[in-house]
Amino acid sequence: MRDQAYKLRTLAHRVIRPRVQVDPTITRVIAITSGKGGVGKTNLSVNLGLALARMGKRVFLFDADLGLANVEVLLGLNPPHTLYDVLYRGKRLEDVVVTGPFNLQIIPGGTGIQELANLDSSQRERLIDMLSYLRTAEFLLIDTGAGISRSVLGFVAAAREVILVVTPEPTSLTDAYSLIKILARYKVHSEIGLVINRAASEREAAEAAVKLQLVCGKFLRFTVRHIGSIAEDPVVIRAVKNQEPFVLVEPNSVAAREVEAIARYLLSGEIQPAAGAVDSFIGRLFRLFR
Ligand SMILES: Nc1ncnc2c1ncn2[C@@H]1O[C@H](COP(=O)(O)OP(=O)(O)OP(=O)(O)O)[C@@H](O)[C@H]1O
Ligand SMILES: [Mg+2]
Repeated sequence: MRDQAYKLRTLAHRVIRPRVQVDPTITRVIAITSGKGGVGKTNLSVNLGLALARMGKRVFLFDADLGLANVEVLLGLNPPHTLYDVLYRGKRLEDVVVTGPFNLQIIPGGTGIQELANLDSSQRERLIDMLSYLRTAEFLLIDTGAGISRSVLGFVAAAREVILVVTPEPTSLTDAYSLIKILARYKVHSEIGLVINRAASEREAAEAAVKLQLVCGKFLRFTVRHIGSIAEDPVVIRAVKNQEPFVLVEPNSVAAREVEAIARYLLSGEIQPAAGAVDSFIGRLFRLFR
């Protein structure tokens, strides 16, 4: 564990040298993650991606969960290709990406995610070739799996920004704390964003956020920024069943308005985006999955 922590820390400060000129588009690379599974990461990723896209941003959504292709399921899509086809079957990223509503660009990870740990030099070249297309993104959202597996931590450490999704349940809070403890030890991020999901009331959301913020401040000296909350809303469950994202079909619902508020917060300029973020992201992925 200590070796991995050292590796993540040193790698986080290295930046891959771009082979071609960096596109002037500045990309925000944001990993959406959680300690406990099933807390609402994929719903947030999809609906936040759509909310940002509807605001005119060019958004890529990378389904980086090793498990089921949940992003595609929530959108009712069945993509014919995945990242695996980019790595091993000579497909270009442009051919694998599926275009969703508002031009949301979905990158299905599929079995390609497992393969990131086994890349040889030609597959690394393939990933570098993806860069020119990815650099056109203003947002690259990454829907990760849950927990502290190597794959999840790799994506989280590689992304410049992190949004941690937590529900007010004690188990979700303690699992979130375990994940933050690792992130605090790596010193890769100076802070992370927190979204409280499935809250019964604003008060319950605020209390859960403060609880986590207090323990992280006291024991880890780590800043957790509460960037939004989403209520427990039957609209979400209905949207999942119908495979239609709630920000599209129920734009006036409580959950949709709260996701919009998170999108606006991200655009509010509180966080300074860095140039070359996509290049750094791919560079770190190479090293972290080595
Ligand atoms: N705000 C909400 N209100 C009501 N139900 C919700 C809400 N958010 C999520 N859910 C329910 O929780 C389920 C799991 O959500 P989601 O798939 O987004 O979680 P996840 O964190 O991505 O899970 P996994 O760890 O398996 O990837 C949804 O199918 C939905 O039924
Ligand atoms: Mg998910």
